[in-house]
Amino acid sequence: MAMKPCCRILIHRRNSAFFGFPSPKSHSHNPFPQISSISRLNFTHNHEFHNFWPRILGFRGAIDRTQKPSCAPIANWGKSRVFSSACYGNCLGRSLYVIASVASNVRNYSTSVETRVNENNFERIYVPNGLNVKPLIVERIDKDENIGRDEEFRVDDNGERVNNENSKGLLNVEVPSVGEEESAVEKEAWKLLRNAVVTYCGSPVGTLAANDPADKQPLNYDQVFIRDFIPSAFAFLLKGEAEIVRHFLLHTLQLQSWEKTVDCYSPGQGLMPASFKVRTVPLDENKFEEVLDPDFGESAIGRVAPVDSGLWWIILLRAYGKITGDYTLQERVDVQTGIKLILNLCLSDGFDMFPSLLVTDGSCMIDRRMGIHGHPLEIQALFYSALRCSREMLSVDEGSKNMVRAINNRLSALSFHIREYYWIDMKKINEIYRYKTEEYSTDATNKFNIYPEQIPHWLVDWIPEKGGYLIGNLQPAHMDFRFFTLGNLWSIVSSLGTPKQNEAILNLIEAKWDDLMGNMPLKICYPALEYDEWRIITGSDPKNTPWSYHNGGSWPTLLWQFTLACMKMGRPELARKAVDLAEKRLPGDHWPEYYDTRNGRFIGKQARLYQTWSIAGFLTSKMLLDNPEVASLLFWEEDYELLEICVCALRNSGRVKCSRGVAKSQILV
Ligand code: GLC
Repeated sequence: MAMKPCCRILIHRRNSAFFGFPSPKSHSHNPFPQISSISRLNFTHNHEFHNFWPRILGFRGAIDRTQKPSCAPIANWGKSRVFSSACYGNCLGRSLYVIASVASNVRNYSTSVETRVNENNFERIYVPNGLNVKPLIVERIDKDENIGRDEEFRVDDNGERVNNENSKGLLNVEVPSVGEEESAVEKEAWKLLRNAVVTYCGSPVGTLAANDPADKQPLNYDQVFIRDFIPSAFAFLLKGEAEIVRHFLLHTLQLQSWEKTVDCYSPGQGLMPASFKVRTVPLDENKFEEVLDPDFGESAIGRVAPVDSGLWWIILLRAYGKITGDYTLQERVDVQTGIKLILNLCLSDGFDMFPSLLVTDGSCMIDRRMGIHGHPLEIQALFYSALRCSREMLSVDEGSKNMVRAINNRLSALSFHIREYYWIDMKKINEIYRYKTEEYSTDATNKFNIYPEQIPHWLVDWIPEKGGYLIGNLQPAHMDFRFFTLGNLWSIVSSLGTPKQNEAILNLIEAKWDDLMGNMPLKICYPALEYDEWRIITGSDPKNTPWSYHNGGSWPTLLWQFTLACMKMGRPELARKAVDLAEKRLPGDHWPEYYDTRNGRFIGKQARLYQTWSIAGFLTSKMLLDNPEVASLLFWEEDYELLEICVCALRNSGRVKCSRGVAKSQILV
């Protein structure tokens, strides 16, 4: 198979007639821009690669040109969707990043494409050229000539370089370097964090989830998880080492283009993987290639959908710009397209009645069944901040203006919804306690038909006089009253809560310090599910027994988010208290993933040691505390314009009856 010297990759509609499908229907309710004309990936050529063709495609033995479309499961499809880069001896020489355009191959060879019923309304990235699909060479790094400088080549059909506007990289960027005086514990943590760095063709691209040399069964903890890398990324950014973050953002962006298939079904495009692994595949003699192998959930326990990955990716992209001052990355056409694809997935119409994002169980940090399907707070808080980030980063032009409008509307509707319906404190619980039920009308007070009997016994005694929090989930006739830490902390950081609510959440954490911090910060949720609840809701999960792991375990990684929330609310002393607590135990305990028991006294029964995000979370917390100005770049204040949109919308709808006049109170706080 010979590679054409130059090719151009265009993004085509999913239903492109090119693939033998009818032309797309027009969807009048699709408010989003045409992405089809945007070139997402760029071809270039290099003759050295011609003989690697079959290998680079990553479909060794799995795909045969003569194969008829069939639904026969090809077990390794998920695994074969790889980036591939050929390396000679070691990868430090001149290297090329290559993508095997497997997405197109899947379309060409799999009936899963033809039998799809979940076509969404938006654009898809297609690689034209049909059966003669070629690998995409997207980035070229001339290590030997100028180490550390990324050089972006965009090559048109004639092999001309047409755009290198984004080649200005980190060399032009002033990154604050902080944390000069490090304690012994910090020094150790840095050493461990650096040891966990994963390289791809000589460049750092992420960190292993855990790096315990004694662990003989790492399962997937030897992968780079998107969510786990976030605190590592912040640590590196704050340290002035932004290269790894830039590489991570670009490589995960490229993985986003893959078709992902679970059995014969593919979820929507724009999904970011939960994790990826760099695999070394032998070629002939002493040659080998490195491939990036993503997991979109098709190998994950329970096949959970990594909804949070794309949201974290957007949040990190914005943080990268804010901290480095390098905005060229987010301005790149392919990066802009990546943002839009994620948003298309999140903003597309469904059967939803609420502005909150509807997801399946285990679609975030808690990636196992824990009764968090529906509209879990964590996803809503990340969604809200990803929307705020995107609004800042999207280049406004004719093509994106509808999307920006959709973002604004969703932001205000979402914040109203969460502030009004997820919030509980003494007063609100007392209201729920006296709720009338079965109210049929548009101005019902008890809109979700919550039966007061649902108020759990533990809550009646637990809720402090001062303080409150956002509940974990809301569905028809169901409020999940558990306190989920990440969702509440990120609501503070992103200003999803009102200023008063944000303050009250910290007050509650302070009042309930022993329960939420105990011997190790921080409880992932409170309280644990026990007895029948554990049996029914977790499905008798032996890893999620009461007060262990996701079910009321204590996770040191949450420290950085707590620190950021405290700093935003002007209460760094609270964060310091938690960081001191962690600093005393973490090194001696070998940086566990989580702790067990009601007060977090024991290292988690199945906790990994040298868990990277425990280490990075600690380091990031330390550096944030030392650098309040930098920290302030990473949180959001109240957006009064959004409130205005919300109040107007409520007024115009003419059928407003908030249980506590939240629209007005939002303005007043
Ligand atoms: C566990 C956690 C998940 C994390 C992964 C890797 O599955 O629940 O949030 O990303 O481990 O550390």
